[in-house]
Amino acid sequence: MDDLRPDSPPPLSAALTARIREALRALDAVLVAHYYVDGAVQDLADATGGCVGDSLEMARFGRDHPARTLVVAGVRFMGETAKILSPDKRVLMPAVEATCSLDLGCPIDRFDAFCNQHPDRVVVVYANTSAAVKARADWVATSSTGLDIVRHLHAQGKKILWAPDIHLGQYLQEQTGADMLLWNASCIVHDEFKAAELEAMRKEHPRAKVLVHPESPAAVVAQADVVGSTTQLLRAAEALGAPEYIVATDNGILHKMRQAQPDKVFFEAPTAGRGATCKSCAHCPWMAMNEVDRLADTLDAAVRGDRSQEIDVDRQLAARALVPIERMLAFAAARKAAGTSAPAPFLQAGSQGMGPA
Ligand code: 13P
Ligand code: SF4
Repeated sequence: MDDLRPDSPPPLSAALTARIREALRALDAVLVAHYYVDGAVQDLADATGGCVGDSLEMARFGRDHPARTLVVAGVRFMGETAKILSPDKRVLMPAVEATCSLDLGCPIDRFDAFCNQHPDRVVVVYANTSAAVKARADWVATSSTGLDIVRHLHAQGKKILWAPDIHLGQYLQEQTGADMLLWNASCIVHDEFKAAELEAMRKEHPRAKVLVHPESPAAVVAQADVVGSTTQLLRAAEALGAPEYIVATDNGILHKMRQAQPDKVFFEAPTAGRGATCKSCAHCPWMAMNEVDRLADTLDAAVRGDRSQEIDVDRQLAARALVPIERMLAFAAARKAAGTSAPAPFLQAGSQGMGPA
């Protein structure tokens, strides 16, 4: 059940690195990457003054950075969120067609009809959605802000309609006791983590701490020492001081975990039918499209004036989608400033939960 991929990507050639640096400079561009993409792309983001982060950090970094071009290495909703927050910046993606099963599982026409049937509920959607779905929502939430937002709405006596991730919705409901009506979609990567096999693995590695992303099924979340966003899991691994970790999220994150703590052992949490199908390999097929060669080609093409890898969001739609995104960002910033969020970025078993933004 170990990670079968190499611990670190093969070093990039000096020529390729120089080509990418030069193109970023020519485009006045900065690279914004998610932890699930190719380790070489993550390293380039770090080395060129960009960022590697969770969905919330990517959104904030892109909004606040002065570069005129954002190069988003991730999936489409991340590029769209960057464009919605910075309509005057150019947003490029190495793979504009990289989607997400949660986005695909929540088409706007069906979602709109569902919302119309429940006008008494506050609509909260996960960031992993289209711009149109966000535009229909009252709030956007990420895995790092969801718990605080739902708790806040519940304290106000609000009933919630949550979409699209059913596992994350159930987790938020269980943690907060809020009245939540849940859409039924899931992440094809996290859905594959298996509770019985995880239990067996924990017995084999009794010293290992278990880190789980809340897009995973409830029976897997129930075995976690820490539940949180990708950044929160990374910080937890740095803070807990255990010799071994079992990680139930996309295995792209192991690159950063191993970089930060080369002396620790990180195991992938077990998925069904290992080696049998691409679907059960703990790696998102859409995140995997962000290969370093594709990044270089995208940048070179953009320098030549090609616009095919550019993300565009209709201005009127973007203006509507911006409202619930900014509501989340303002809420997270206010909580942080007021110190009303828990100081630690994660909580351990017994008081499991996702920490502050
Ligand atoms: P976070 O990085 O925000 O935890 O989200 C994970 C995810 O769904 C990316 O696809
Ligand atoms: Fe979507 Fe899952 Fe891929 Fe993240 S890992 S982009 S949630 S399919």
